[in-house]
Amino acid sequence: MADVLISVQNLVRVYGRRSREVKALDIQRLDLARGDFVAVTGPSGCGKTTFLNLLGALDRPSRGSIFFEGRDLAGLGEAGLCRYRREKAGFIFQAYCLIPSLTALQNVLAPVYPRGNGRRMRERARELLRRLGLAGVEKHRPGELSGGEQQRVAIARALLLDPELILADEPTGNLDSATGAGIISLLKDLNDAGKTVLVASHDQRVADACGRVLRLEDGRLV
Ligand SMILES: Nc1ncnc2c1ncn2[C@@H]1O[C@H](COP(=O)(O)OP(=O)(O)OP(=O)(O)O)[C@@H](O)[C@H]1O
Ligand SMILES: [Mg+2]
Repeated sequence: MADVLISVQNLVRVYGRRSREVKALDIQRLDLARGDFVAVTGPSGCGKTTFLNLLGALDRPSRGSIFFEGRDLAGLGEAGLCRYRREKAGFIFQAYCLIPSLTALQNVLAPVYPRGNGRRMRERARELLRRLGLAGVEKHRPGELSGGEQQRVAIARALLLDPELILADEPTGNLDSATGAGIISLLKDLNDAGKTVLVASHDQRVADACGRVLRLEDGRLV
């Protein structure tokens, strides 16, 4: 059995309450191995974002558990969850979610704000920008970058603290197909370098690039 990074048990997320409840996710059992490259697919509203948000601890389950390296996220407490979000799970959003008033370099350093001025971290942020082909735009603000460049800045930010897990929610949704293909190949490179990567997408090419495809329908794995 491969090394299990994440184990999901009876995971349920219900939104709203009482008469207006929506059961957005209901996964009985799922293991993800360290080093997996997984596509999470399915039609709009099937629960992809709900699932990634739970894995990234951006949201809490209504019922059930997520174990990361054998530890239940529910047992981590607020400070532990903060550390998990910052150091263990790098999140990449469809809408990039960069801070408009900060430069590309400052955005990459956001996870260590306000301690981001240390020389070591700045060097690492610069190196990541270089590796992602953004050396020339360190001082640009998001409004002065193309969509593909903004997404690469967001990837650099997600990588700053070298997380084990990369969660990407429709990372190519706002990009043209060539730029999107570049982002997918970057995620593939990260996976080749040992990261566990989950990508939510309804783009078939994303699913084709991944080693494993999970399909959700009405919140359930099919
Ligand atoms: N905050 C919320 N309150 C109530 N219902 C919600 C909330 N967020 C999502 N939902 C509902 O939960 C279900 C799953 O939504 P989710 O955003 O996870 O789908 P998705 O697969 O990511 O869709 P898309 O492909 O359009 O991004 C949908 O029926 C949606 O309407
Ligand atoms: Mg979504």
